[in-house]
Amino acid sequence: MLNHGVIKATLAASVLALAGLAMPMQASAACNLVSTKDNSPLNIKVEEGDTPEAKEFLETCVNPYTKIYVEDPNKAKQGKRKFGLYSCTTCHGPNGDGQVAVSITDDRWQYSKHITDKGLFETIAGGTNGGMAAWHKQVANNPDLVTTDEILKIIGFLRSQYKGGGDKPWLNEKPQK
Ligand code: HEC
Repeated sequence: MLNHGVIKATLAASVLALAGLAMPMQASAACNLVSTKDNSPLNIKVEEGDTPEAKEFLETCVNPYTKIYVEDPNKAKQGKRKFGLYSCTTCHGPNGDGQVAVSITDDRWQYSKHITDKGLFETIAGGTNGGMAAWHKQVANNPDLVTTDEILKIIGFLRSQYKGGGDKPWLNEKPQK
C-alpha cells in the first residue's frame, strides 16, 4: 500500500513534468510551414542576420510587409527589386502578371492556400511539383539563394500588384499560435 508521502511525491513529480512540457511548447510557438510538393514539414529556421520581420513571420505566419507594401507603392519597390534580382521576372514577367509561367497577380491561384501569405511562402520557399523550383537558401541548400526576409518582401510586392476581385484575406491575417 502507498503511504501519503509517496503519493505526494508522485503528484509533485507529475506537476513538474507537466510544467516542463508546457514551457518549451510555449517558447517554440512557431509557424508550421509545410512543403507544397508533399505536405512534409518545411524546416526553415531563424538564422544569423535574419531581420525582425523574418523572425516575426517564422513565429506567427504573418508577413509584416504585406500591409505596408499594399498601402505604399514606394515601399513595395523593395520587393520588386528582389523579384527582379532572383529572375522571377523571366517566367512570371516584370510585375508578376505572367509570361512563360502563370500570373501571380490575378485571382486564379495554382493552389488554394495561396490566398494566405503562409501558403505563398511555402510555394516560393519549397517549390512545387508543377515547375516551380525551391528558392529558399535553406531548402535548396545554396547560400546564394533567397532569404526568409527576401521572400516576404517579394510576397508583399506581389500582394501590392493584385488585380483580381473579391476578398483580400492576406490583409487580415492573424498570428497563428
Ligand atoms: C523557370 C520558370 C520560373 C521561375 C524562374 C520562377 N517561377 Fe514561379 N512558377 C513557375 C511555374 C511553372 C509555376 C506553376 C507551378 C505549379 O502549378 O505547380 C509557378 C508558380 C508560382 C507561384 C504560384 C502562382 C499562383 O498563381 O498560385 C508563385 C507565387 C511563384 N511562382 C513565385 C515565384 C517567385 C517569387 C520566383 C522567383 C524567386 C519564381 N516564381 C520564379 C515557374 C517559375
